[in-house]
Amino acid sequence: MPQAAPERRDDTAAMDTFHGTNDMSLQVRKLAEVDVRGKKVFIRADLNVPQDEAGNITEDTRIRASVPTIRHCLEHGAAVMVTSHLGRPNEGAVGAEDTLAPVAVRLGQLLGQPVRLVADWVDSGFTVRPGDVVLLENCRCNTGEKKNDETLAKKMAALCDIYVNDAFGTAHRAEATTHGIARFAPLACAGALMSAEIDALSRAFDKPARPLAAIVGGAKVSTKLTILKSLAEKVDQLIVGGGIANTFLLASGQRIGESLAEPDLVKEAHAIMDAMRARGAEVPLPIDVVVADEVSALARANKVPIDKVGPNDRILDIGPKSAAHLAQIVANAGTIVWNGPVGVFEHPQFAGGTKMLASAIAHSQAFSIAGGGDTLAAIAQFGIADDVGYISTGGGAFLEFLEGKTLPAIAALQARYQA
Ligand code: 3PG
Repeated sequence: MPQAAPERRDDTAAMDTFHGTNDMSLQVRKLAEVDVRGKKVFIRADLNVPQDEAGNITEDTRIRASVPTIRHCLEHGAAVMVTSHLGRPNEGAVGAEDTLAPVAVRLGQLLGQPVRLVADWVDSGFTVRPGDVVLLENCRCNTGEKKNDETLAKKMAALCDIYVNDAFGTAHRAEATTHGIARFAPLACAGALMSAEIDALSRAFDKPARPLAAIVGGAKVSTKLTILKSLAEKVDQLIVGGGIANTFLLASGQRIGESLAEPDLVKEAHAIMDAMRARGAEVPLPIDVVVADEVSALARANKVPIDKVGPNDRILDIGPKSAAHLAQIVANAGTIVWNGPVGVFEHPQFAGGTKMLASAIAHSQAFSIAGGGDTLAAIAQFGIADDVGYISTGGGAFLEFLEGKTLPAIAALQARYQA
């Protein structure tokens, strides 16, 4: 294995190497391979959790997901520093709504030991002993963090012997704690969560078991156009859902009444379908749908064949025949990538399609990976979390990966591994 190099490196080239099409599973150093005993370890986690107006944490998945790496370091005798951003604060001061104080409390409960919160940690000097863990206050309040300032990154790197990036949720940001520090720390590696995310994405995209089926749902083609184009080059079936499917239906000459769609993107939808067809792949479109005249909990839903959509109808879900067809595709798939629901699943009368798809994914033998806000909500609603192969903690990072973009934080780890 290549050795770590302490000095500054130019990783511009490596910024281009971490991409959805590359074989990256073995290209970063992993925490499990590193001896942390007696070392000062700096962990960049993503503890960016939702809070209510009083600052109470309303959902702690990301904190829980960060615990294994922290615990590993503590159990192996490291002195542990953890930091994260919380929200998108202004740099230069920590406002009341920016503090990681509630996170420190929750982390302490999960670890079963006190977690001291350290303010002004870049310049003031603080101590942490082996077996202890401190939480370094919101890193995005440090001046220079967001611009990936080199001086700041060097100061932070000087705090540690080992830098661990466990923040997949922030891997699409080139900031001082996600990118710069990885260049200057004596050793840089991926934590357990980051490694698991990389492994799952590698498994889905590097050498996927075929057929590879992707489900891309959501309201608008425009927000997911790059994802659709990128996936169209890789997958065997591209299942589109929600408003996205409506634009594809328009492109295939169907009438969609008053349904949400983007007529100006019909050409793009055509191009995607043509490109898929040219490589023997397909974009399966709904053959029946669930319509109503409004999106509301009280709306009356009707199931109709796709050629019977009326001028005032709004398509709000796929129909049972379409859902059964998609379930068949999912059942036969070797790999499934899921981002976005196929209907307005928040209302029971439009939830049938997404529910059937979720159940098909849960029962499929295929390796499945799911990510994105709405998708996680659907997984929770239909109770299939334990049956999905991997659920990504990344929102924007997961989407940017699907777009085929470079994730700078992982590229920085790769650069250190290759050096
Ligand atoms: C997220 O919530 O998706 C991550 O924590 C990244 O947050 P950001 O979009 O503010 O960088």
